[in-house]
This record gives sequence, structure tokens and C-alpha cells, in this order.
Amino acid sequence: MFGKRAAVDSKPTPPRAEAPALRAAPRTDGGSSRDSASPPLAAALAPPRPFAAADERSDDYYQIKTTIFSALIDTIDLAQLAQLDADSAREEIRDIVNEIISIKAVVMSIAEQEHLLQDICNDVLGYGPLEPLLARDDIADIMVNGAGRVFIEVAGKVQLTSIRFRDNAQLMNICQRIVSQVGRRVDESSPICDARLLDGSRVNVIAPPLSLDGPTLTIRKFKKDKLRMEDLVRFGSINEAGARLLGIIGRCRCNVLISGGTGSGKTTLLNCMTAFIDAEERIITCEDAAELQLQQPHVVRLETRPPNLEGQGQITMRDLVRNCLRMRPERIIVGEVRGPEAFDLLQAMNTGHDGSMGTLHANSPREAMSRLESMITMGGFQLPTKTIREMIVGSIDVIVQAERLRDGTRRIIKITEVVGTEGEVVITQDLLTYEMSGEDESGRIKGRHAGTGIVRPTFWERARYYGLERELADSLDKLQA
Ligand SMILES: Nc1ncnc2c1ncn2[C@@H]1O[C@H](COP(=O)(O)OP(=O)(O)OP(=O)(O)O)[C@@H](O)[C@H]1O
Ligand SMILES: [Mg+2]
Repeated sequence: MFGKRAAVDSKPTPPRAEAPALRAAPRTDGGSSRDSASPPLAAALAPPRPFAAADERSDDYYQIKTTIFSALIDTIDLAQLAQLDADSAREEIRDIVNEIISIKAVVMSIAEQEHLLQDICNDVLGYGPLEPLLARDDIADIMVNGAGRVFIEVAGKVQLTSIRFRDNAQLMNICQRIVSQVGRRVDESSPICDARLLDGSRVNVIAPPLSLDGPTLTIRKFKKDKLRMEDLVRFGSINEAGARLLGIIGRCRCNVLISGGTGSGKTTLLNCMTAFIDAEERIITCEDAAELQLQQPHVVRLETRPPNLEGQGQITMRDLVRNCLRMRPERIIVGEVRGPEAFDLLQAMNTGHDGSMGTLHANSPREAMSRLESMITMGGFQLPTKTIREMIVGSIDVIVQAERLRDGTRRIIKITEVVGTEGEVVITQDLLTYEMSGEDESGRIKGRHAGTGIVRPTFWERARYYGLERELADSLDKLQA
């Protein structure tokens, strides 16, 4: 049916002895876990280990793949292939690849042949070498720095993989395929693009000439099974009493800001906290790329929109937040506050939409407040500092600080209340802090979540109003234990 098959080059490859072996290269130390025998000081002084990819494929493998791939492309009619469903297309490719392998007398085992076939199908039908990574649910991020280097983050650790693209052109092609699904293009004239995969994963592409070593693709994988507060307790991200405290804060409609660095688990924590919202409340979520998965029945999900190719049609976070005020929200959830929408969110929190929540990039609760302040001033609001600070204090009740520690684990390191102002200074008090006490022999950080002795947080009355004061007293008590 794909009549170009006869065009396959039938020149035999070199005899068996010279045929390149497809066996995986010997495995070098992964470098991701530290040598448990070495003392911590020696480990600290030793130079950092170079990344080494697990299960590396040899250069020969890629050479053979390129040869077979080119022969396939010469043989196959891509337009006809595109009309087939995925299974039939795979079958067709399998037949042709097997034919090419036998004509070219390539020596490889059944397993190697199967792997090659899988790779080639992924190239032709999907996201190429990314497919096996996209299929894994244990990966948090995929980071492609040009064709030759693909890193992943698994269990909080970044590791180099053996995945490679044929060349930067193939990588660029795949980037193009991804962004075209959201109606965008990425090329020299518009080299930066945000997009989303069909499964909801968040994608950023930055291409040459801005990225110097080839197209750079970053994917925050969408986790099908979202973590819940119980999971965070199980991982030690928070202890049980701390989780109960967060539950009370969520239930009694405190306005909450979740602060933290990149990938520190802010969105995950926000998602966990929304679980405590009452099923009867009308919730409106505003996000750049929908990541939250609220379980309540009455949720409206809104998403921003980037400008189109002509630079028109952009809908910003501020547009969404302002619009949702006209949608009779009871709670407003903003995926990430990063610009002038901070002003509208604070106003909403101040005017009857308490229980609103959002995340923000900052390294401490105090920095979170100064970031809010600068977002408001940079948004063009000509307000005196004192007024802005009073507005922050009047709106935000609690700031939860998340952090990705150096051992790769994510922890909630502070639950901080915004208490009031003294002159121009905002007063806060910590309800919970994470105290580090060292690290164990496997490099995992040891520590514990502890209360700070506060027995009556400022949202006490609020908790009482919701009939939660006993529970609040109890969880604060347990934090002291
Ligand atoms: N407490 C946790 N324990 C283990 N893994 C976690 C925890 N919190 C989040 N993760 C994982 O870490 C990754 C990043 O989490 P998340 O998207 O919530 O971070 P973020 O701070 O919102 O990142 P960004 O700044 O990019 O928006 C996800 O894969 C998530 O599943
Ligand atoms: Mg996030």
C-alpha cells in the first residue's frame, strides 16, 4: 500500500563481525545518590560528581537508527500514514522497518529490534524520544537542553537520561508539533513559547538564537494521581498536627498565600488545601495552565490566554481575576500571582471573598509580602507604601512557606500569620517552623516540625465562628509536643 517500498537501498551492510553492537554501554555510577560509606565532610569536600546517564545507548545505536529512519522516510508515504489510526500506522511502520532491517542485514537481537521499532514509531507518530519519559508518572520535570542532553527530575533529584534526539532539527520539529497544538509557532522570530500537552503537562520552549545550545524544552509533567495531604504527611513534608492546622486554616476561610521557590510544591500544596473547602461553596480558579484539580461540585475553571501570532487576543491573569469578581465567587483561587492581579486579589480578599488562596514565588513569608508590594507598585498603582502594607495586612491571614530542600525533599517550612502593622512595618508570627537537625548517612535531611508556643492565633475568633476552636487548640497543642 505504501508503494515507495521498492526504493529501499538493498546494499548489504558490512559482515556480522564488523556490525556495530547494540548492547548498552557499561553503566557508570548514576551520581544521584551519595556514597553512603564516605563521611559527610569528605563528601562535602569532594568535587561534585559528573552526571552520568543510566542505561546509555551507544553511538552505534543512534547511527543505525538514523540509517533505518532515513530509509523509512524515503519509503513511506507520510500523507497516507497520517490517515491511519495509531495502531494500523504502527503496524505499517513495523512491517517496513523489519523489511529494511533484513535488506540491510543489520545485526540485532529481537529485544533491540523491538526497542528500535518503538523509538522509530515514537518519532513518526508522537513526541519522539520524549515518549517513554512522558509515559512515566514518577517524573516531575523533563528538561531538554538541546538534542544531546535530557534531564529528568525523579523523587526530587535531577538526573541525566540516556535519551537523545537525532539532532537539533528533530528536537525543533517536536517543539513545533507541541506548540502547534495550542495554535502557536516557535521559530527565530518568536523563539519563546508556552504550551500544554494533551495530558495537561505545562511546556515552555525557548529556541535559538536565544538559547545558545539548541532548542530548550522544559516540561512540568502533569501528575495524574495528585498528592493529597495524607501523602504530604507520609513523605514528611508536614507532620500530622501541622496538616490538621492547615486543614483548619482552609476550612475556616482564612486568606492564604502559599510561597516558595520554583518546583517547591506550591501548586501541589494549594491543591491539597482546597480539599478542605466546603462542597457548597462556589469556587473560581484562575490559572495560566490549569493544574489544579478541585473535587468540589461547584467550581468554575478559568485559564489565561497568550497573544496570538499577530500579538492580539491576550487575556491576562488580571483580566480573569477582575472578571471573576462579577461571577459571584465565594472563593477565588489564583494558581500563581505574579503581576498586577495581586492588587485585585487583595481587594477581593478584603471585600467578602475570604478563603481565597494563591501561590507566589518567594523565599520567605516576608519576601512574599515585599513581592506583593512590588507587584502592586509595578502594576502602576500610585499608592503610599503604608497603604499597600495595610492592604496586605487586611487581606492576607496566613502565609505557608514551601521549600525544596537540598536532599530533594519538599517540606513546609513555615506557617506564618500576618498579624498587623506597627508604623510601616508588617508584623508576622510563626505558628509552625521546620527545624533542621542534620542529615542521616544517606544524605537525607533530618528535622522536625514544631509549634512556636502560640496558643491563640489571630484567626482564633474565625475558627470559633466555624466551630473549629477546639480542634485548633488541639492541633497547636500537639505541635508543642
Ligand atoms: N510534598 C511533596 N513531596 C513530594 N513531591 C512533591 C511534593 N510537593 C510537590 N511534589 C512534586 O513536585 C513537583 C513540583 O510540584 P509543584 O508543581 O506543586 O511545584 P510548584 O512550586 O508549583 O512549581 P512551579 O514554581 O514550577 O509552579 C510535582 O511533580 C509534584 O508532584
Ligand atoms: Mg506551580
